[in-house]
Amino acid sequence: MKTDGRLGGWLGGRAPEGQGDGATVADLLASAARTLGAAGIEDAPREARELWAAVADTSVGEAWHRRAQAPPAAFAARYRAAVARRTGGVPAAYAAGTAAFRQLELLVDERVLIPRPETEGLVEHVLAFARLHGRWGVAADIGTGSGCIALALATEGAFRRVIGTDISEAALAVAGANAARVGADAVEFRAGDLLGPLGGERVDVVVSNPPYVTAAEWDALDPGVRGHEPRLALVSGTDGLRHTTVVLRQALRCVLPGGLLALELDCRRAGAALALARAVGWTTARVEQDLCGRPRYLLATKEAER
Ligand SMILES: C[S@@+](CC[C@H](N)C(=O)[O-])C[C@H]1O[C@@H](n2cnc3c(N)ncnc32)[C@H](O)[C@@H]1O
Repeated sequence: MKTDGRLGGWLGGRAPEGQGDGATVADLLASAARTLGAAGIEDAPREARELWAAVADTSVGEAWHRRAQAPPAAFAARYRAAVARRTGGVPAAYAAGTAAFRQLELLVDERVLIPRPETEGLVEHVLAFARLHGRWGVAADIGTGSGCIALALATEGAFRRVIGTDISEAALAVAGANAARVGADAVEFRAGDLLGPLGGERVDVVVSNPPYVTAAEWDALDPGVRGHEPRLALVSGTDGLRHTTVVLRQALRCVLPGGLLALELDCRRAGAALALARAVGWTTARVEQDLCGRPRYLLATKEAER
């Protein structure tokens, strides 16, 4: 869902006379590709086009259509600043300020984790379950970050309400901006610890991509991640299972009979997470693989009252 806001009226016509510095879209792209390439970024021309599209809030194809046009100086400056951030080691999504997630283009910055492709699969499992069982009541997304899961469920599904929780007020500010951006009225965000903000309300679906990296694994992560993405979003104690364990316990009380718990897992700990799920009382729990064949999703249904 692309919006058409950042270039103002420019996408609708030509750059106003005298407003730009004369550089055309083609000039900007060529210069950016050289700069990105010199910084060692692979496939620099593609990154240059993708950054352009993100900053222009439009599709990559628009760059070709507008290659001979000179954008306003303010846009050219924003684009060059994004290229400079990228060459300085900032992840592409933060440099651009947006990330694609399923059908959405979401605002992201260093307050939130960049949504990952495997999380799109978690959403797919929830939507498939809701369609199959007609469970379109309330869904709760625990640790919502940018709001990607909650907003995808709200825009692609038919839930009466979607609640996103996060312990980070800073992350919730980004999630709120994204809700406004995509016009998701059925979504509300609440601050607090894991399922605490639900205040005992029972829901049809609990979904979560919780932190699941160990403290030691964090230390060994790529500098692009460690230097820019929030540690709070990734690290879950010394075993990587602290948040997963608590969500498994709390969701057992919170999910309505016939409802679903869907959790994203670290593939290295899928077996341990499944054993934990069964130990706390999710007798129907199973693990599903992502598109690369890695065990990534724990799905547990609630059969009877507890
Ligand atoms: C792995 S990120 C997932 C973000 C987003 N849902 C996604 O899939 O991209 C985990 C999120 O959980 C939040 N978080 C960490 N500890 C939490 C806690 N105790 N209670 C609620 N949220 C927490 C972090 O702020 C972060 O936004």
